[in-house]
Amino acid sequence: MIVPGSNSQSLAATLADELDANLASVEFDRFPDGETRAAVPGFDADRAVVVAATTSNHAHVELLQLQDAAREAGADEVVTVLPYMGYARQERAFEAGDPVSARAVARAISTGTDRVVLVNPHVDTVADFFDVPCEIVDAAPRLADPLPADLDDPLFLSPDAGAEDLARAVRDAYGRGDTDYFEKTRHSGTEVDISPSDASAADRDVVITDDIVATGSTMSQAVAILREDATRVYAATVHPVLARNARTKLEAAGVERLYGTDTVERDVSAVSVAPVVADVL
Ligand code: R5P
Repeated sequence: MIVPGSNSQSLAATLADELDANLASVEFDRFPDGETRAAVPGFDADRAVVVAATTSNHAHVELLQLQDAAREAGADEVVTVLPYMGYARQERAFEAGDPVSARAVARAISTGTDRVVLVNPHVDTVADFFDVPCEIVDAAPRLADPLPADLDDPLFLSPDAGAEDLARAVRDAYGRGDTDYFEKTRHSGTEVDISPSDASAADRDVVITDDIVATGSTMSQAVAILREDATRVYAATVHPVLARNARTKLEAAGVERLYGTDTVERDVSAVSVAPVVADVL
């Protein structure tokens, strides 16, 4: 039985279709003191697949409750699918005294599950923080689906060297085009500097691929640089977190279209990761 977190209702329903599985009906309530309750009153299965993007602190608590509720209702096995793992970008202590937040949340999540499935975490090493088996699935090729078939001499770019695999995966799935990357320097949570790549974007259609668009600083700078030469600039991301004014920054930069998957459910979620998640369940 698929048990959806409140942030992953569409993905969970698509996954249930994909697997021909039942979808639990979850109740979400808030008590007068602010505490929350996520319950699965009709749960009736040996296996629970809890699907919950942990995009907020609240979502973390909700996930722990859903795992526990499924176990309490008799599930022998609890599988946790994290379409988007919150805190994954805090995978090390950046300054003395900092927590390794990704490890802290991974340990907490491990207490309520037998197995974890992670979709494109920011770095693969976060999988090692779980105390139960954790499998990573790659949804990047799905990002080729929403692209127009008529891209002109396409160039697939990532905003830093580390993400070039992502650009390559989308290019391979699209079937043609070149890949390259920018040099990126991050100054703070919202300030980044991007240096243009070596590949010429003149009179070409460009697709910038990134694992996450959070504040949109990285993507909007890249779009603005490319808009000077390129014909059209598309922005494709696995996780469209879109915090603060990310959308308006990208519009102002001149993006042709921004889209992502349903790991974080937004109106730009143009393609589902359900098929790649279903493959490992
Ligand atoms: C960083 O290495 C990631 O791949 C993304 O580029 C970053 O998380 C995007 O963040 P923002 O949208 O805030 O620039």
